[in-house]
Amino acid sequence: MKNIFTPIRLVILSILALVSCNQNQQELSVSSPNNKHVLTFKLTAQGAPEYQLTSGGESIIEPSVLGMAFQDSEPLQQNLKIINTERNTVDTSWDQPWGEFKMIQDRHNELIVHLQETTGKNRLVTIVFRVFNDGIGFRYQFPEQPHLKEVKISDEKTTFTFPEEHNVWWIPVHSENSYYESLYRKTPISKTDTINTPATFETKSGKYLAIHEANLTDFASMTLRKTNNKQYEAELVPWANGVKVYAKTPFESPWRTVIVADKPGELVTSTLMLNLNEPSKIEDLSWILPSKYIGIWWGMHLEKYSWGQGDKHGATTENTKRYIDFAAENGLDGVLVEGWNEGWDGDWTADGTAFSFTKSYPDFDMEAVCNYAAQNNVRLIGHHETAGAAAHYESQLEDAFKLYHKNGVNAVKTGYVNKYLNKKEWHDGQYGVRHYRKVIESAAKHHIMIDNHEPVKGTGLQRTYPNLMTQEGGRGQEYNAWSADGGNPPEHTTILPFTRMLSGPMDFTPGNFDFDYKTPQGAKVQTTLAKQLALYVVMFSPLQMASDLPENYIGKPEFQFVKDVPVVWSDTKVIDAKIGEYVVMARKDWDEKNWYLGAITNAEARTVNIPLTFLDANNVYIAEIYADGDEAHYQSNPYPVSITTQELDKTKTLSLSLAPGGGTAVRFVLKE
Ligand code: NOJ
Repeated sequence: MKNIFTPIRLVILSILALVSCNQNQQELSVSSPNNKHVLTFKLTAQGAPEYQLTSGGESIIEPSVLGMAFQDSEPLQQNLKIINTERNTVDTSWDQPWGEFKMIQDRHNELIVHLQETTGKNRLVTIVFRVFNDGIGFRYQFPEQPHLKEVKISDEKTTFTFPEEHNVWWIPVHSENSYYESLYRKTPISKTDTINTPATFETKSGKYLAIHEANLTDFASMTLRKTNNKQYEAELVPWANGVKVYAKTPFESPWRTVIVADKPGELVTSTLMLNLNEPSKIEDLSWILPSKYIGIWWGMHLEKYSWGQGDKHGATTENTKRYIDFAAENGLDGVLVEGWNEGWDGDWTADGTAFSFTKSYPDFDMEAVCNYAAQNNVRLIGHHETAGAAAHYESQLEDAFKLYHKNGVNAVKTGYVNKYLNKKEWHDGQYGVRHYRKVIESAAKHHIMIDNHEPVKGTGLQRTYPNLMTQEGGRGQEYNAWSADGGNPPEHTTILPFTRMLSGPMDFTPGNFDFDYKTPQGAKVQTTLAKQLALYVVMFSPLQMASDLPENYIGKPEFQFVKDVPVVWSDTKVIDAKIGEYVVMARKDWDEKNWYLGAITNAEARTVNIPLTFLDANNVYIAEIYADGDEAHYQSNPYPVSITTQELDKTKTLSLSLAPGGGTAVRFVLKE
């Protein structure tokens, strides 16, 4: 059995202090280990809890109230006194089974404030603050107590007040779709309404802040409702009946988090979300295998194949074997097969209750396909589309996972295409949060990894359930097949690393090599081919797809990069970036040997000079460079890729010319 936790040093300094009445007016402060960020807690004259945050002396969050409101009882947000406080210092590290870093440091200072009402029912609430070098997290805890037992939360009163109106990259809540598949816009706060997290702010002083949450367990997602041009209040996603959260003491909220960064890249390398989740509940991780896959998938989106039965049915035994052959020949680990099971005929998005997760269509022989895959050292990747019929899916969950496990399938892609779950609940309300957790836990029991499409946003749960490999929860490559607005604009992927990707891995599905397909909507991949390669480095996903049809890869020298590029990384560095304009990222493979670099740009051509200081000292590397070729342009000439090699080391600077909508991918192979 593998132990993934390697505590290096854990210093816990616990001071339990009984606080006298006049200390209630005092401010309590807690700083980050490097003393840069200082969080201050106090009670107002009305006994309302308030926090504020400074960084290097600059105000980041102005005094902002905290509290919780309940149906059937008074809100807990004033007339409070401090009954005691605790302080802890943690300095430890832990190993990841997979990720963007092999090892993660958890260094933070903690302040725990125990509060009690001075009036009425003398109810209790505790607020826990943790301050890291990369930002803060805080959560509410409601201990077991006589006058707060079963509760219905009607509102969370947490506010985030800025010193001035910032610009923010944001997507709306539920108005465009229920699963975060919007293009990010950048506007001043005043031009937003209620927004999803992660929401990323740019301050006038040049800092970057991201508000999100960690460890969303048996609670509703937090969205942010604008209350004025400098402030948001937490807005929990409700159940259909309006209740936000059903809970029973003792219970705690997810962590509310704010990353504080001096550069956009520090948002990407922040680890506070993972640090605020619990260690793995899965002990034997031997079956969790990051991998690369191809799928009977893009063909459906292009309408070359259909999910349902008929002449164009994609998931036939014969077609799947052809995909398996391709995977085997090219070292890909898995073949995703969508449309293999009963329930797709007609409008499958309308009502998922026709789906069977155990009955195959007659032209798909699961056993034969899985045997053939095993002979070829390839795995079938399973697919469960529910069309939002979550309860119907739950009724088959055990049998469905058992069937896949019996056939050697170790990864399943799930899907929830529908405005609602069960025709009434939001994907990101407490119902959805409970449902998705049930799926992850049941899958773990059957040794199955999950790739969740139309999910609730990620909050770092992959630390606790390392079988939650990747999620959609963003506007992926599929929009380039059918989106009425023409597909993802070139800047989209230069924004995602600083917004959507802060919530965890994304099954974006890079790897389109054909730009000449035609669809009724006229959507297009708006990148060059070299940029498609660079996306494998920029967009982290431990299950990573080669999205195009196999026939579009055959004979293409650029496909070598897709075969070579790893899916998990021992180290990650953002070399340079401007959100919405360009990103240059370097990552080291899991074996800590070779480095990879991805550089991407928006619609503007640009030259980036990259000092190779990230490379290991005293090593020489053969750099295999896949750059935009002559005259490459995402609109008119996406194909040219110049493939060259150079001997390089950390003293050198690499100058890259990125075409409009272009990019460069580099593999630095250690010269031994
Ligand atoms: C939407 C998913 O994002 C896509 O990848 C999948 O092919 C369809 N649903 C069908 O399940």
